[in-house]
Amino acid sequence: MKDAAVVTGGASGIGEACAQRFAALGHAVAILDVEDDKGTAAAARINDEGGHARFYSCDVADADAVNEAAERIAQDMGPAAVLVTSAALIPDTEAILDMDMARHERMWQVNYHGTLHACIAFGRQMREMQRGAIVTLGSINSMMPLPLPAYNPGKVAIARLTQLLAVELGQHGVRVNSVAPTYVMTEGLQDKIASGLRDAGKIMAPHALATLPNAVDIADAVAFLCSDQAACITGVLLPVDAGWAAGVSYKSYAGGVPWDPPS
Ligand SMILES: NC(=O)c1ccc[n+]([C@@H]2O[C@H](COP(=O)([O-])OP(=O)(O)OC[C@H]3O[C@@H](n4cnc5c(N)ncnc54)[C@H](O)[C@@H]3O)[C@@H](O)[C@H]2O)c1
Repeated sequence: MKDAAVVTGGASGIGEACAQRFAALGHAVAILDVEDDKGTAAAARINDEGGHARFYSCDVADADAVNEAAERIAQDMGPAAVLVTSAALIPDTEAILDMDMARHERMWQVNYHGTLHACIAFGRQMREMQRGAIVTLGSINSMMPLPLPAYNPGKVAIARLTQLLAVELGQHGVRVNSVAPTYVMTEGLQDKIASGLRDAGKIMAPHALATLPNAVDIADAVAFLCSDQAACITGVLLPVDAGWAAGVSYKSYAGGVPWDPPS
């Protein structure tokens, strides 16, 4: 059994795909989430398939709870050599002048501070071991302004935190990177498309590729960044965006479509 891999937000979506991937790679996997039933079921699915996973009920916004979970995990499966911070609240668009400040605060507590709490608790274990890999979940929101006033700057802050940690922990043999997915075809997005809250055609339009990643595509990138093949990669933001960053700018200019010049 390889060292422990910890996935916050591992009860569903991208986090669950990462938990499954690290279990398949032979790690003991700790899933941290607030959704007890989903988290227990996600761990059970991994164990049923011959992996080794355990669910820890934990609100990542609560630093004490994260530290407590880190201690229990170290006792149960040893110190973490891998951390993926996937826990987040994902909002709908809103205007800054009309936003609900309580919801804004909570989103920062979960998305930014939750990432920070996990990086501190498990980063200390990695510093002690003098090895490890952390991948934070960024987004296309880490790269460009999108109308999500708490979520968008939070993902920018996570990208900067990732760079700071990469430098601080590099001397201890710990690498810290971020992935930046575009819209991912999770159950959540499929439900929004089905209920008319999102338009699949409009979502897809800016991308270079005529496809969107699924959760496994993101887990592939995360696993790569934690692997020996990425031994010299740290402090990077890796877009897994089907060409969104290139396309959104390119296609904004005159529609971005080559045309026949007027004769
Ligand atoms: N789905 C996308 O299109 C997309 C795109 C770019 C980035 N991301 C990022 O990927 C990550 C995962 O997104 P997802 O689509 O899998 O979302 P998801 O909602 O399926 O998963 C998020 C998980 O975090 C958990 N969570 C929420 N608050 C928590 C808290 N306080 N403590 C512990 N766990 C908590 C939820 O219960 C859930 O299981 C997020 O960081 C998100 O910002 C998602």
